[in-house]
Amino acid sequence: QLFGQQRANSLGIATDIESQWQPFRQQVEAFLGDYQWQADSLINGQAQSNVRQAVMAPYASQQQVGEVSWAKVEQVATALDAAEQAHPVWQQTPVNQRTQYLRALADKLEQHMPELVALCHREAGKTVHDSIDEIREAVDFLRYYSQQAESIFSQTLEQTGLQGQQQQVRYQGRGLFVCISPWNFPLAIFIGQIAAALVAGNCVLAKPAEQTSLIAARCIELLLETGIPGAVIQLLLGSGAELGPALCSDPRIAGVAFTGSTPTAQSINRLLAKRDSLPVPFIAETGGQNAMIVDSTALPEQVVRDVLRSAFASAGQRCSALRVLFVQQDIAERIISLLQGAMSELSVACPEYLSSDLGPVIDSRAQQKLLQHIEWLQQNAQLIYQLPLDEQCQQGSYVAPCAFEIDSLSQLTEEHFGPILHVIKFHANQIDSVINQINDSGFGLTLGVHSRNESTYRHIEQRARVGNCYINRDQVGAVVGVQPFGGRGLSGTGPKAGGPHYLYRFAQAEVTVIKA
Ligand code: SER
Repeated sequence: QLFGQQRANSLGIATDIESQWQPFRQQVEAFLGDYQWQADSLINGQAQSNVRQAVMAPYASQQQVGEVSWAKVEQVATALDAAEQAHPVWQQTPVNQRTQYLRALADKLEQHMPELVALCHREAGKTVHDSIDEIREAVDFLRYYSQQAESIFSQTLEQTGLQGQQQQVRYQGRGLFVCISPWNFPLAIFIGQIAAALVAGNCVLAKPAEQTSLIAARCIELLLETGIPGAVIQLLLGSGAELGPALCSDPRIAGVAFTGSTPTAQSINRLLAKRDSLPVPFIAETGGQNAMIVDSTALPEQVVRDVLRSAFASAGQRCSALRVLFVQQDIAERIISLLQGAMSELSVACPEYLSSDLGPVIDSRAQQKLLQHIEWLQQNAQLIYQLPLDEQCQQGSYVAPCAFEIDSLSQLTEEHFGPILHVIKFHANQIDSVINQINDSGFGLTLGVHSRNESTYRHIEQRARVGNCYINRDQVGAVVGVQPFGGRGLSGTGPKAGGPHYLYRFAQAEVTVIKA
């Protein structure tokens, strides 16, 4: 088991997922057989049943996970009207009451952990370990943003200043927030955005990725069970291409939180810009062309362990995942030979699902795109290693983890969101040119550095234009509340998710000055 790991939650409590898993195993298995979920959009807390379609499992495309019905475009207007009506009361609801609902949801996610782990595994194709992490991260976001909100929104800040006057600053929600979330963190990012918007006093229109509608809808069902007014959270399931424009071009929208691809963020930005109203906050967390730089002082075994996790955990489907490993010539052969050995030990889609290191990619469309890129690499690059896949992988949308040596970063014109690692060798005197190549890509999400030389890693870290730089460790799995996460340039607008500045973007400040 290569990716079994310790992670800490936002409150600093270490969570050993291995020991968590054992008592839950049987409960999870109850949801792994033929259990089926159903999901509808929820407007004002009421299910909107339209024509249902089957949801199939990425790990076995013949296995149905449930059924989903998608919202009609005209339902967007109904949801917007309802949210608009609910907003004045929600805004006036004391922050401690708003957070009470979100804290109650965190408890419910923990209570329903076995079901949610199974659903995440079956619908999103995540390994069981990744699914446990997913639920924990969702819980962390809920508790962290609640804690933050209780200090930001509960009080009026008195500013000292002019004598004989009182200066008061307070923060309030902005109005209606659209939250558009991706399939790769179908619960954590989904509910993280929603929680931030709600605790700040906004009403939310949530549009999760269509591939992971079931888990999103299940989460909102649990949220409604806490007693939160149904009108403050409108759930619209369906195609982004259809629902996105209807949501983002409405003049009533006071902000958008989006996580997904850079081109989609650019289209949302254009939709927002075309409205007659003034600009509103647009929080975009987008893609990357994430690199790791390894110099000759690095410890090869540690590098390979961290490369493996950074590039192949979650089947490479993390926006933080490593795509391009820059390795100094002097150490390259040693690293490559260790990497080949370690990759050959990866287990993909084991029938004994508990010991899989990687699952499938999200669907056959993603699989085909990745396979096309691998074909291109086979023609234009040097194969380092490609894991042979078991026959049973043909049942699902699997992509064999692979590594290829390429000549330059400029050969990669887009992000390849899967278990494909590109390796580039460099000479000792080329570190600055490597940093320039990374900066010139325009992306700036994560960067890994392996060096035992402090002046080297400081030099790199200060010049590279990235959001999150990880030194002498892997570069995925930012911990909520401890490692705020987000990129710059083409990788995102900020503020960083899971960090102390995030909630302010969902709010506006009001200042009152009273003369004695
Ligand atoms: N926050 C995730 C990570 O750090 C990526 O979305 O891996």
